[in-house]
Amino acid sequence: MQIDHDALIVGAGGAGLWAALELRKAGVDAAVLTKLYPTRSHTGAAQGGVCAALGNQEEDSWEWHMFDTVKGGDYLTDQNAAEVLAREAIETVIELEHMGLPFNRTPDGRIDQRRFGGHTRNFGEGPVRRSCFAADRTGHMILQTLYQQCIKHGVRFYDEYQVVDLLTEGGDLGAGGRAAGAVAVRIADGEIHSLRAKAVLLATGGFGRMFRITSNAWSLTGDGVALAWRHGVPMQDMEFYQFHPTGIVGIGILLSEAARGEGGYLLNDSGERFMEHYAPTLMELAPRDMVCRAIHQEIRAGRGVDGKDWVHLDVRHLGRKVIEEKLPDITDFARVYQGVEPLTEPVPIQPTAHYAMGGIPTDINARVVRDELNSVVPGLYAAGECACVSVHGANRLGTNSLVDLLVFGRRAGRQMAADIGGVGRPEVASDAQDPVRAELAAIRGRVAGESAAQIRVQLANVMMDDVGVYRDATTLTRAIGRIRALRARHERVCVQDKGRTYNTDLLEAWELGYLIDCAETTAVAALARRESRGAHAREDFPERDDVNFLRHSLAYQSPGSRPTLRYKDVVVTRFQPKPRTY
Ligand code: FUM
Repeated sequence: MQIDHDALIVGAGGAGLWAALELRKAGVDAAVLTKLYPTRSHTGAAQGGVCAALGNQEEDSWEWHMFDTVKGGDYLTDQNAAEVLAREAIETVIELEHMGLPFNRTPDGRIDQRRFGGHTRNFGEGPVRRSCFAADRTGHMILQTLYQQCIKHGVRFYDEYQVVDLLTEGGDLGAGGRAAGAVAVRIADGEIHSLRAKAVLLATGGFGRMFRITSNAWSLTGDGVALAWRHGVPMQDMEFYQFHPTGIVGIGILLSEAARGEGGYLLNDSGERFMEHYAPTLMELAPRDMVCRAIHQEIRAGRGVDGKDWVHLDVRHLGRKVIEEKLPDITDFARVYQGVEPLTEPVPIQPTAHYAMGGIPTDINARVVRDELNSVVPGLYAAGECACVSVHGANRLGTNSLVDLLVFGRRAGRQMAADIGGVGRPEVASDAQDPVRAELAAIRGRVAGESAAQIRVQLANVMMDDVGVYRDATTLTRAIGRIRALRARHERVCVQDKGRTYNTDLLEAWELGYLIDCAETTAVAALARRESRGAHAREDFPERDDVNFLRHSLAYQSPGSRPTLRYKDVVVTRFQPKPRTY
């Protein structure tokens, strides 16, 4: 079946929803295609807050926020993008408040703000209250608020449609072609649909499911990133993947940094606040890459709790009122998943794969670019975690993800509305969906072969063990070989469910292909970057190397799906790179 809209948004998290809202406000016929129900999107799992230099309790300024973002990103951040983020954070948060988002309040009625890692006053003097929050359910509230607005403004939703390809016009996207829509499977009945559009926004989120221990939902499989790559758009800065210091041991569910923002401690086996040895000024509120490395070093030195691979998060001294009013969800997570009572016991935690700094390269108006000259791909936009603006550089600061998707989701919608004017209905070949239809039929038709679940588990183990917080040439070379072997096995994958109704067996096999693309690119880009910067910690190259590597990687698909690398310059405007200490 073929469906036409003027604007198509793939993904219903915060970025996609805000873009849809802007489009509808501009009178554009906008549709959102999502493999989940919109309010199950992963924005809803973001806990601790959305930052904006409101200065409600302490003096603050957008310049300090911009500086923290650049320094936090170990100077790989494009500073034109960081300036947009820090300036527009303020108005987007106020706009959300006016839409009805129930932020926590100060006693005099203003939006309450808490501390978060790497956010400082006066260019690094000490922590500042910049994160606006709704208890530890901020992302959930943002998602509900934006979804209500989208319904009110008449956005058309295609819920439970899984994207399986992109439509193009006039050649592939890497060769000057235009984005013209998407191909999707309606999950309820397995029907394949082509949705044509004059402008397409990819807002499909991240790909944390390529790791064994992750805070990411099952659905975070890099769909948009991999599909754009298969059509000639590079993946940018894939070697920078963020681990969050405080995941639930073994399963990775997030225990928000808000716990440390409210004053929680990290303790090793002897009850020592070990961060004083690694970041004496900011302690537990140092950026995440540093806290994760500190935890790993404590564990390696035998100072994990009981000699195991975790340490403790201790919030007992915060008292019942703060814990129950400001950290209710994570308190329940510790009770339910760990059987630990945070009011009276320290909580075991370990780093968990959390956020992709890399993704689909865009300019500051969310237009996808395809090379080091920033040539725009007509009709294609990206925003949220799947995009790389690059506002987070080599390491994102906590609470900058929600503000990224608000600021650049809003910009995406406005840019699409402005661009769509003179564009005609795209011409798409009538057989455009044939290749994907044939591939899906081949997987379903195979009578013998390996299950996707088996390959997926092995991929997650390779990534966790060899491409995790620390890497070196040996682990990365080994990982690349293993991922390529898994890719070959995936080409013969077999599903047990041969039906059409809610065939998640088939769609998970399909998603695994996206994860393999993202994983191989991550490992290849990490091997080529012979320095340590932000979240990319090479044990064999422990220093940052601005002479050779103050540049973004661009990984292109070449024959055999092998990534090949090119590089582009970082945009430096106000802040020259300096050593990064806290
Ligand atoms: O810890 C947290 O609440 C996560 C926030 C973020 O990743 O921005």
